[in-house]
Amino acid sequence: MNETIETLLNHRSIRKFTDKKLTDEQIHTIIKAAQQASTSSYMMAYTIIGITDPDKKAALAEVSGHPHVTQNGHLLIFCADLKRPVAQATSEQYEATRANLENSEHFLVAAIDAALAAQNAAIAAESMGLGMCYLGSIRNNLARTDEILELPKHVIPLFGMAIGTPDHQPELKPRLPISAVYAENEYPAYEEDVAAFDQELADYYESRSTNNRKDTWSEQMIRRFAKPMRMDVTELVQKKGFNKR
Ligand SMILES: Cc1cc2nc3c(=O)[nH]c(=O)nc-3n(C[C@H](O)[C@H](O)[C@H](O)COP(=O)(O)O)c2cc1C
Repeated sequence: MNETIETLLNHRSIRKFTDKKLTDEQIHTIIKAAQQASTSSYMMAYTIIGITDPDKKAALAEVSGHPHVTQNGHLLIFCADLKRPVAQATSEQYEATRANLENSEHFLVAAIDAALAAQNAAIAAESMGLGMCYLGSIRNNLARTDEILELPKHVIPLFGMAIGTPDHQPELKPRLPISAVYAENEYPAYEEDVAAFDQELADYYESRSTNNRKDTWSEQMIRRFAKPMRMDVTELVQKKGFNKR
């Protein structure tokens, strides 16, 4: 197994970091690696904001509710960005592009571009011995996050990433069996895999060293979708000029 695969297979989210800040060189390398990800039609439809201002960090932590938003080696916010690709358009050209720019396809393009760049950043960080955790929790109040970051139209925050030196070593979290997520030439028949995984995860939750609980993956997912969540996202997304049609 090569070192890259080892890094990938060793991933676990880190939610407790030492006080050590990332160096400028580490940040530069992580962002360079993020930028080299594939990007749809060369659009590079994302922007990454590094948060060093303690007031902004505290405000984002309030939205998120997670201590690792303030206590980390560096905090990144990944944004979908459809502003820059047409920044040089004349107002006439811009008006002509607007209907296409603001459709669902380009919202997906920007979100996918941002996610690919982010995952490159994550792997780069982990390959350097750092730990990381994604932060969808910045969408707990998306309008507030957007306000804190003062983002222009056609730029919207998607998720954060806390990076730093790990101050704990959580157990690896199991994944579904390969046959549940991968099949050749047809959609996988995963029912038995999910049942087996529920049992495996129940054992994992009961025996892990922190946050023990009685739970299965299926119960967790059904609970997750049982109540409305972040119903304000659609409104802000459309207000910022994304996913309008
Ligand atoms: C887009 C995205 C958003 C996430 N948001 C959060 C978050 O807000 N807070 C958190 O503690 N973990 C967050 N996570 C981490 C997941 O909970 C974690 O990846 C998952 O439970 C699997 O655990 P592992 O990464 O340790 O293998 C997020 C992950 C992704 C991909």
